[in-house]
Amino acid sequence: MVNHDGAYHAYVNSCPHVGTPLDLWPNEFWSEDGRLFVCSTHGALFEPDTGNCVAGPCAGDALTRLAIRRDGEDVVVSCPDA
Ligand code: FES
Repeated sequence: MVNHDGAYHAYVNSCPHVGTPLDLWPNEFWSEDGRLFVCSTHGALFEPDTGNCVAGPCAGDALTRLAIRRDGEDVVVSCPDA
């Protein structure tokens, strides 16, 4: 889950290219300029507010979005069934 410009977004941590986690090191998701998510395997870049891949081997594809809801002070992410 990410808070980007004041809005929460959540995605499955699986690159649409070959399905590896984006972060080689735990919680290292951001490109050097801090604007995009980067896949550590082959360098695909994703917009944090849409999950769309904007560069790399899966350009035009997208991360799988997870539903989010507010529950009082909490932000709850719903995960699909396995
Ligand atoms: S696995 Fe993410 S770009 Fe190849």
